[in-house]
Amino acid sequence: DSAELEAFTNKFSHRIRGEHLFKGNLLHVDMLDNEDEQDFNNMKLKKEDIIVSAYPKSGTTWTEEIVWLINNNGDIEAAKKTPLYMRFPFIEVKQAFSAIRTMPSPRFIKTHLDYPAFSAMYDSNQTDRPKVIYVVRNPKDVAVSFYNFYKMNKNLGSFTGPFSEFLSMFMEGYVVLGDYFKNVLGWYEASIKDDHILLVKYEDLKTSPLEQIKQIAGFLEKDLGDDVLTAICDHVSFANMKANPMVNYEGFPIMDHNISPFMRKGEIGDWKNYFTTEEDAAFMKLYQEKMKDTSLTFAFE
Ligand code: A3P
Repeated sequence: DSAELEAFTNKFSHRIRGEHLFKGNLLHVDMLDNEDEQDFNNMKLKKEDIIVSAYPKSGTTWTEEIVWLINNNGDIEAAKKTPLYMRFPFIEVKQAFSAIRTMPSPRFIKTHLDYPAFSAMYDSNQTDRPKVIYVVRNPKDVAVSFYNFYKMNKNLGSFTGPFSEFLSMFMEGYVVLGDYFKNVLGWYEASIKDDHILLVKYEDLKTSPLEQIKQIAGFLEKDLGDDVLTAICDHVSFANMKANPMVNYEGFPIMDHNISPFMRKGEIGDWKNYFTTEEDAAFMKLYQEKMKDTSLTFAFE
């Protein structure tokens, strides 16, 4: 593990703040480290816990707001009163991890950890294991979204290089939370075997949001009327989320929205504005190699 990190630091000059590995995942200064590992492994998750997991920039925030609202019977007024990061703490952030340990059920938990690291907290054979909604997004749009996030986020080192440099880091897995393919394929394979993990695609959420929201409600065994589901769907449109201070990370000290807003574009296919023809060819070569043994597919446009 540390040899891998050393190889990266010899190859790339950009650093995130306090970078370190936690259970094989590259994390920054405010996130869990070796000191927390025992507490992490010992914190067993409960049946009532509801997890939203995703590789960074795949639509995590969007899905969290949907899941929270479904489980709170579409109470939009309640959602408007408390920031999402407090309703849905991010477990690998040190402060949030402490908060989660004393939170009453049902606990809503966000994670970007890979499956081997996260599943240390539960037994996939247990009947009382928690439910997980895993969101995936096509990797070319993830790379573009991540690049813009790296520029505006101080913990990620306020990246100033060109997209080409970030893309090299992304393709080799030298980014916070590690390699895209490792994260996505680990969770995808787990979702095939475990009916407590629902896989949702960003592109499906974008093209048929109401249908996907209904599917998530079914998975969470919440029987909500069409009017409630339609109201949730409207509340989580890109325009509404961009304008909603409870979900748009407005005022977060580590983020500079003047460089790039958190709610940036929210589209499928923005990669075409960033990738050169050569970069696309190199990326698709890597993609084909990494995806050769999986049935997972993506819409890239
Ligand atoms: P872009 O940078 O491409 O705009 P995460 O929450 O996992 O960090 O993902 C952030 C990405 O999801 C950003 O992508 C953000 O704009 C997009 N996003 C957030 N809410 C959305 C919504 N309601 N509709 C579409 N995209 C959304």
